[in-house]
Amino acid sequence: MPRMNVKPSKRNFNKKQTLKRLLGYVFKTYPIRFTIICICILIAAVGAISASIFMPQFINLMYEGIEHNIGVASSVGFDAIKDKLIGLSIALGSVYIASIIATTLYNQLLCTVTQGFLYRLRMDMFKKMEKLPISYFDRNPHGEIMSTYTNDVDAIRQLISQSIPQFVQTMITVTLLFGVMMYYSLWLTLAVIVAIVFIFQVTKKIGGGSAKYFIKQQKSIAECEGFIEEMMNGQKVVKVFNHEEKSKADFAKLNDQLNNDSYKANAYANMLGPIIHNIGNVLYVIVAIIGVVLVVNNVPNFSLRGFGTFSDVKFRLLPASSEMGVALSIGIAVAYLGMARQFANSFNQVSMQLNSVVMGLAGADRIFELLDQKPEEDNGYVTLVNAIIDEKGNITESDEKTGKWAWKHPHENGTITYTELKGDIRLFDVDFGYFPEKIVLHNVSIYAKPGQKIAFVGATGAGKTTITNLINRFYDIADGKIRYDGININKIKKADLRRSIGIVLQETNLFTGTVMENIRYGRLDASDEEVINAAKTANAYDFITRLPDGFNTMLTGNGSQLSQGQRQLLSIARAELADTPVMILDEATSSIDTRTEALVGKGMDSLMRGRTVFVIAHRLSTVQDSNAIMVLDHGSIIERGDHDDLIKQHGVYYQLYTGAFELE
Ligand SMILES: Nc1ncnc2c1ncn2[C@@H]1O[C@H](COP(=O)(O)OP(=O)(O)OP(=O)(O)O)[C@@H](O)[C@H]1O
Ligand SMILES: [Mg+2]
Repeated sequence: MPRMNVKPSKRNFNKKQTLKRLLGYVFKTYPIRFTIICICILIAAVGAISASIFMPQFINLMYEGIEHNIGVASSVGFDAIKDKLIGLSIALGSVYIASIIATTLYNQLLCTVTQGFLYRLRMDMFKKMEKLPISYFDRNPHGEIMSTYTNDVDAIRQLISQSIPQFVQTMITVTLLFGVMMYYSLWLTLAVIVAIVFIFQVTKKIGGGSAKYFIKQQKSIAECEGFIEEMMNGQKVVKVFNHEEKSKADFAKLNDQLNNDSYKANAYANMLGPIIHNIGNVLYVIVAIIGVVLVVNNVPNFSLRGFGTFSDVKFRLLPASSEMGVALSIGIAVAYLGMARQFANSFNQVSMQLNSVVMGLAGADRIFELLDQKPEEDNGYVTLVNAIIDEKGNITESDEKTGKWAWKHPHENGTITYTELKGDIRLFDVDFGYFPEKIVLHNVSIYAKPGQKIAFVGATGAGKTTITNLINRFYDIADGKIRYDGININKIKKADLRRSIGIVLQETNLFTGTVMENIRYGRLDASDEEVINAAKTANAYDFITRLPDGFNTMLTGNGSQLSQGQRQLLSIARAELADTPVMILDEATSSIDTRTEALVGKGMDSLMRGRTVFVIAHRLSTVQDSNAIMVLDHGSIIERGDHDDLIKQHGVYYQLYTGAFELE
């Protein structure tokens, strides 16, 4: 099946903004834990470089020990060395212990923060989805929306629990390390900077390519899932038309795309590691060489040491200080090798982590795109309330169930009027199109008085279902007016409007659950007895009792174990249970088996009694007794009147009736 949907608009994805928004979102969910995590990450980063910081001092201590042993005149005493060693060990040990505690703590906290945040995110997404207009689901393949819940949420999990904290920690480590390196020697730092600039360029080139393909990969996954979902739903159609091969070929194309994107993303990413690692090795050698040259030649060493806190460190075996700064000691030169390696490694990690951060952000962006969708607007302020109506017709609001309903209409001047809910629906010159440029209904006017039955007939695609979509405001009209009991339906709160209109949709939708639960969907507080009565009225009772577990039979896969007609009987029972003054019946187009067809007809008949009914019928026998029949053609009403009027007119209806025309 070719994809006919218009692709959802992919807005421009701004990484910085997405990151800011995501962190803000996490922070808002867990402000205290978030702050503790940040502090712990800082401590852990300090811990990561503590060996580098302390190393020169340990090496110098070693020299002092050697001097002491060989009896150099200026050497310090054994006790002084021992004290220093103990002091240093305690300091280093404390830093390590703090760092271990901080790391454990923040990883634990991250676990709760991530899971808690994902819970909230999924909730927010679902809440948002429930608020979206039907048109959103027309535009977006359902599998792709599904993929947002699975893949993109998982990308965020990775982002919050791993990529971002690791990235931040490494960034802090790199920065601190850089400071320490400058503290010890500006010359050597200069050599490192040159190498790093080089690494940075390589990273940008390769890493950028990799991130680009990782983002593409996520999109391709979503497309694949969208296709799989469509194919599962359309499996029967695929088989009917023998399109298994074609659908395989279509999938192969999408799969190829996914394969290609994944391959490139990973190939780039895998290239990055070894390249940077080797640059790191070269850097190690360069630092060693420069170190030897500097130490051997007694080159004065520029450094920030004068400003640091380690100025009490005595560097033995040093050449005398020069005016230019402090000379490079062997201790520093050796420690520097370690630092340079750690620096290069950290840089390597940063570039890897940057990839997964970008990939995660792309997922976050898609989730934000869903969260940013404009919800279905509802400016309605007229509500439906329980009412007590006296003999004179005065209406008072009631908190209890009275069986009567009224529209509560607050006015600007502060007064409130009540209008009895009768089910009087009128459309005045309504125009509508699913897309602004393609008008589907032209100038449709319909007047339905309470208790009347209005029927729509017309060829497929004439706009019958569309009219019913407008009455309950699945879509908003482009022009004209719809009034319900004299009130413009735009003023009525959507939930209340829909509560007052029962619909048997053209396509039945059953949820996973028992038959009983599925019927009870019409009114959640209905008792078992009420459900059974509704089933009886809808003529569904007999077939239900013949099911293996009767009303407790589990339905799955949209009730695929039932016949089309049986499914429709269940949705009629559902509408019956909701017991609304207005009922819309959109008869299923697909022919149902003749035995159930008669049952469905009877079920619908009992549903219509005493209600305002809009019925879309594909069999003219069901519409003959209507108060008015509207004949639709290409979105316009071309004939109207009751059965006898229309027969007299000798128009399209007459031709349909006498069989000169086929309805479908
Ligand atoms: N969700 C939608 N998005 C865009 N166009 C739509 C949508 N639903 C229907 N249409 C278009 O609106 C027109 C009227 O469709 P509608 O479903 O109202 O026909 P119908 O009279 O109910 O037909 P049928 O008898 O087959 O049920 C058709 O041209 C159809 O292509
Ligand atoms: Mg229809």
